[in-house]
Amino acid sequence: MPAKNTILVTGASGLIGSEVSTYFGHQGYQVHGVDNNQRAVFFGPQGDTRWNQQRLERELPAYRHHELDIRDRQGVLELISELRPAVIVHAAAQPSHDRAAAIPFDDFDTNAVGTLNCLEAARRSCPESPFVYLSTNKVYGDRPNGIPLIERETRWDYADPRYADGIDETFSIDQSLHSLFGASKVAADVMVQEYGRYFGMPTCCLRGGCLTGPNHSGVELHGFLSYLVRCNLEGREYRIFGYKGKQVRDNIHSLDVAKFIHAFAETPRVGEVYNLGGGKTNSCSILEAFALVERMSGQPHRYTYVETHRIGDHICYYSDLGKMRGHYPGWDITITLEQTIREIVEAWQQKLVS
Ligand SMILES: NC(=O)c1ccc[n+]([C@@H]2O[C@H](COP(=O)([O-])OP(=O)(O)OC[C@H]3O[C@@H](n4cnc5c(N)ncnc54)[C@H](O)[C@@H]3O)[C@@H](O)[C@H]2O)c1
Repeated sequence: MPAKNTILVTGASGLIGSEVSTYFGHQGYQVHGVDNNQRAVFFGPQGDTRWNQQRLERELPAYRHHELDIRDRQGVLELISELRPAVIVHAAAQPSHDRAAAIPFDDFDTNAVGTLNCLEAARRSCPESPFVYLSTNKVYGDRPNGIPLIERETRWDYADPRYADGIDETFSIDQSLHSLFGASKVAADVMVQEYGRYFGMPTCCLRGGCLTGPNHSGVELHGFLSYLVRCNLEGREYRIFGYKGKQVRDNIHSLDVAKFIHAFAETPRVGEVYNLGGGKTNSCSILEAFALVERMSGQPHRYTYVETHRIGDHICYYSDLGKMRGHYPGWDITITLEQTIREIVEAWQQKLVS
């Protein structure tokens, strides 16, 4: 039997891992976090997540840290066999679209092989424990860009009424441009589904839009809102890449992500896939995000416009949350976009003075 009320969280020092650790810790779980601060290797000192690890160790008595690389197969097998956790949340990743092309082996070994290491370790030691994988909407590649769009004053939007509520899980992931990151995440996503369908394990993939919140170590290549706020507060120039700055992202606060994961862990299903974002109401374009942040900080944004868009970047993406709400009626978005941005502004204001 798995150890009751024990959770293993990979990527625990990151945005999602730390929120999930805190949330489950407050629900009475013993939390085991795995992280080796690889984000600092991927993105340099600005991506460093040690501060967040130290915050967890300081503030969460139920937290125990394991300095382990998820690429270390033997290490992962041994840890999961020793702990036999009742829940596994796998959030460790190389998370950037653009970074992946420069480090293809590190990207694939972390995202695809690292996920297989965790899945197989779970199958051997605790196959009945819910296994939640943080996937991404980049598994759809650039296919969403094929949906006809209308250009509005500050944003792009879907012209096709079929997508009025956003993109749902029936959207094809095939035959589109994914970036190497998208491809390594597809490999992991399909493997997580397979461990559900083939072995009957309670696995699920959460295909994230923009997951955000005050604990993100935002950098130019990952963590759009966190980085945008930081630029505003520091008076640093933000670069917009193409699409007139009207590209749309849907933003979900990491606490609402943790709440969904908790709902799934309480009543798991097998081999599921959910599109997890802020939905249409929590969506914004870069231009709209500038306006919101300027209103809160009182400082104007400095930015430059680069004509070329990022390869495979979505022009407009927001998630249809219908399946999540249908399967878990007790769950919904609880934090508005404005509230989320306010928290990010306050967190950076504190971090930048300390
Ligand atoms: N934040 C987003 O907007 C977003 C959107 C879609 C999907 N996701 C997915 O959600 C998950 C979590 O994202 P996040 O924003 O919290 O990322 P993050 O970079 O803040 O956190 C990931 C953590 O994993 C750690 N890590 C990376 N490689 C590791 C390795 N080999 N061994 C051990 N630890 C390692 C990093 O040090 C980091 O602390 C990722 O799988 C990401 O792809 C995030």
